[in-house]
Amino acid sequence: MTAHPVALVTGASRGIGRAIALELARCGYAVVVNFAHNAAAADEVVELILNANGSALAVPADVADSADRARLVAESLSAFGRIDVLVNNAGITSAGRRDLLEATEESWDAVFGVNLKGPFFLSQTVAREMVRLIREGTIPQGKIINVSSISAAAGSTDRADYCIAKSAIRMMTELFAARLADEQIRVYEVRPGVIETDMTAPVKAKYDSLIASGTWPLRRWGQGDDVAKAVAALVGDFFPFSTGDCLNVDGGFHIRRL
Ligand SMILES: NC(=O)c1ccc[n+]([C@@H]2O[C@H](COP(=O)([O-])OP(=O)(O)OC[C@H]3O[C@@H](n4cnc5c(N)ncnc54)[C@H](OP(=O)(O)O)[C@@H]3O)[C@@H](O)[C@H]2O)c1
Repeated sequence: MTAHPVALVTGASRGIGRAIALELARCGYAVVVNFAHNAAAADEVVELILNANGSALAVPADVADSADRARLVAESLSAFGRIDVLVNNAGITSAGRRDLLEATEESWDAVFGVNLKGPFFLSQTVAREMVRLIREGTIPQGKIINVSSISAAAGSTDRADYCIAKSAIRMMTELFAARLADEQIRVYEVRPGVIETDMTAPVKAKYDSLIASGTWPLRRWGQGDDVAKAVAALVGDFFPFSTGDCLNVDGGFHIRRL
C-alpha cells in the first residue's frame, strides 16, 4: 500500500481529466488514470507523472459498464491499497448534436450511461470502499468531485440529453454530500465553461465568436488547467465546512446581465 493519498480520475487520458491527473500528481497524489479507448494517451499521462517521480497507473474501463467499474475500483485498490479522491470527469457529448425534435434514444442512452449512470454508480462503489478505509483508519477522509458543465444550467436545444444529464449531476452531488457527510466524505461539483479540448474542437469557430462578443466576462478559452486548479483546491482541504457545493470554472458565464 502507498503512503501517498490516491486519486482515481475518470477520463484522464485527454483534455480536462488529463490536466486534473497531472495537477493532482503535482499535489502528491498517486493517480489512477482511467480511459476508455486511447491507451497511448493514457500511457503518456502516466509517463509524465512517473518522470516527475510520482506514482500512476493507467486502467482502461468504460464507466458506463458495471463490470468495468467494479474492475476499475478493484485494480486501483490492488495497485495502491486506498482511494482518497474520486474525480468523475469522463464524459461524452451528444451524438450529432441533433435538434430536440430529432434527438435519438441511442444518443440519450450513450450520454446518460457515461455522463450520469457511470458517475452515480462509480461514486456508490468508491464511497463504500472509502467508508471501509476510513473506519479501519487507512485514510482520514474522502472526497468526490463531479465534473458537470455550464450545460447543467444553460440549455442547448441541439444537445438535450447532455444538458439534462449534466443538470442531474447537481442533485446527485447534493444527495451524495448529504448521505456521506457523517462518513467523513465530502462531495463537490465543478462546473466548467467552454474549455479547449478535443470535445470542443469541432465547434471552435462558434466559441471563438462567442468569446469575441463577450458572452463570458473573462474573454478567453478555458483550459484544462483552469479546471484542474479548482479540483486541486477542493481536494486540498481549504473548504472544511462546505459540502455539496458547486464551483463554477466558466470565466463568469453564469453571471446574468442586462
Ligand atoms: N470541453 C468543455 O468545454 C467542457 C465543458 C464543460 C464540461 N465538460 C466536461 O468535462 C469532462 C471532460 O471533457 P473533455 O472536454 O476533457 O473531453 P474529451 O477531451 O473528449 O476527453 C474525454 C475523456 O473521457 C474519456 N472517456 C470517454 N468516454 C468514456 C467512458 N465511457 N469511460 C471512461 N472514460 C471515457 C476519454 O477517454 P479516451 O481518450 O480513451 O477516449 C477521454 O479521456 C466531461 O465530463 C465533459 O462533459 C467539458
